[in-house]
Amino acid sequence: MAKYEIIGGTPLSGTVTIGGAKNAAVAILPAALLVPGKCRIENVPDISDVHTLLDILASMGAKFEWVEQSILEIDCSDVTCTEPDPTLVRKMRASYYLMGALLSRYGKAHVALPGGCNFASRPIDQHIKGFLCLGADVEETEEYVDISAGPEGLQGARISLDVVSVGATVNIMLAATLMQGQTIIENAAKEPHIVDLANFLNTMGARISGAGTDTIKIRGVEKLKGGNYAIIPDQIEAGTYMAAAAVTGGNVLVKNVIPKHMECITTRLREMGCKIVEFDDAIRVQRTAPLRRITVKTMPYPGFPTDMQAQICVCMALANGVSRLTESVYETRFFGYCSELENMGAKIKINEKTASVTGVPLLRGTTVHAKDLRAGAALIIAGLAAQGTTVVKNIHYVERGYEHIIDKLTAIGANIRRIDD
Ligand code: EPU
Repeated sequence: MAKYEIIGGTPLSGTVTIGGAKNAAVAILPAALLVPGKCRIENVPDISDVHTLLDILASMGAKFEWVEQSILEIDCSDVTCTEPDPTLVRKMRASYYLMGALLSRYGKAHVALPGGCNFASRPIDQHIKGFLCLGADVEETEEYVDISAGPEGLQGARISLDVVSVGATVNIMLAATLMQGQTIIENAAKEPHIVDLANFLNTMGARISGAGTDTIKIRGVEKLKGGNYAIIPDQIEAGTYMAAAAVTGGNVLVKNVIPKHMECITTRLREMGCKIVEFDDAIRVQRTAPLRRITVKTMPYPGFPTDMQAQICVCMALANGVSRLTESVYETRFFGYCSELENMGAKIKINEKTASVTGVPLLRGTTVHAKDLRAGAALIIAGLAAQGTTVVKNIHYVERGYEHIIDKLTAIGANIRRIDD
């Protein structure tokens, strides 16, 4: 199993360019199933979750080609399969978007339950509720979900989500795009990748409005057509490099970002004493003084993202005083990395949803294990700040969502290498 070896202690300095958003890409690629024509998609991140999805789509009959680095052409005209390969589906979480996409295009889907990062119980009851409201019959076993148009066919509906769910919002948008009538999703997720998916679908001929607010309206259309689209930059990849700059006392220009999407993160880093300068599509993060303690609570967008919980925890671990970090989306997410950070010298006390993090002057390098994608990212930035050598194992989690991470970190002065065992 490959691992990363990091020799810490160097302040990061220079420019890093952010790739396309993972969580937008993994929704937009299944959305291409709705299009009987060629989609040219730019800013596609070079990450293993994207490659797994492309393998799944290709095994179903899609044709795709990388025309340039990060520019993909995909044509799903010839797809007829509605039962994607379960082994591939189980490799990742977002393969559950095949359910909504196949239901929309073919009126049926037989999809294995997804795999992916298991940092918490991740139910899909709200996805199923959405399909049922649209008139589908749904049968669930322990391994599969079988969905088909019910006796009355599929029809737009008003669906009020019981919890704000990115996945359910995406799946219902996909399912309703090619359906008769109007669907209204209430209590919808507002994340930038929801807006990006709506923009992609509208570019291909869908009629979706309200994405980015908590009420999304989808007027079903008969058919989509091919077109060109560019995926937004990755908010969490950008936030991770910003945290890495902060924690190492660095000075990094993070390029290809949408500063508006970063506000919840820039605000916190400013509170910690970092100097942040925003440009049109870049943010500079500089730290010259010790980090100060802060209080953070994760929330759905526009709140502080749960996907940045672990990275901000590393900043807190090296700040002056006691910081408080409350998780309100996935209660068990602390368990993916806090014990590993403690092995590096961090002082963290978890009480239900809140971690109290007492800053220490330095972390020490040791061997740690990534248990999920963002936990892995946090351990890397902890290693960059730590004294000595840190070895991060289980890096396949990290490579699910961070493109060219070694090249990008090395270019800003990090001493990190990938070792293939
Ligand atoms: N929930 C339910 N029922 C459902 C769906 C969700 O109770 O049917 C609950 C979850 O248990 C959780 C909350 O609702 O407490 C939010 O879950 P959501 O559905 O929004 O999460 P997701 O769609 O499974 C996406 C991202 C995650 C990110 C979360 C929250 C993708 C592919 N994944 O997951 O990203 O943490 O939204 O923002 O978009 C990551 O990138 O590392 C990652 C895990």
